[in-house]
Amino acid sequence: MSDNMNRRDAMGIAFGACAAVGGVFALAGMKKAWDPLPSVKAAGTTTVDISTAEANVLYTEKWRGKPVFIIKKTPEMVAASSATTKKRDVIIGSDHFVVCIGLCTHLGCIPSYEPKNSATQQAFLCACHGATYDQAGINTKAPAPLPMLIPEFKIADGKLIIGEAGPEYEKMKADGVLGDTPLKA
Ligand code: FES
Repeated sequence: MSDNMNRRDAMGIAFGACAAVGGVFALAGMKKAWDPLPSVKAAGTTTVDISTAEANVLYTEKWRGKPVFIIKKTPEMVAASSATTKKRDVIIGSDHFVVCIGLCTHLGCIPSYEPKNSATQQAFLCACHGATYDQAGINTKAPAPLPMLIPEFKIADGKLIIGEAGPEYEKMKADGVLGDTPLKA
């Protein structure tokens, strides 16, 4: 009886230890996903140093109470981009970034990013009603009516300033790819 108890106790301790170690790794993974990029908030703008961004990792910055998604594209993602998709790229040096407000254009849920689908039409999934978006945040499946919106931005000293319109933003506006209107085919 006491042998059984001891064995059970030992197994319980071993399972507990495994669960604790697993939990620590899970938390470490989650923390990595939540770690923001270095950023400074001031008077309606958020300045983000995206030089340390890892490729194909979703970073979420807060700007005027909204989530802004930032993803540095891998070379494979750039190669898989259509001409329209590329027009939505924020290019800093030789790096291409996806920058968009992370709210589904159907009813405003926050879509999840699927890194393994990064080069496909289902890079972002909205769990609320099943809409999908490609890697550039362009809507690829109803009921999302529009691409995810690109916020005003400008590039200065290699940093991304969200909340001010620079020439790169104005070019996207002229190209009609911001997401405030349907994209031209
Ligand atoms: S809110 Fe995203 S599909 Fe409805």
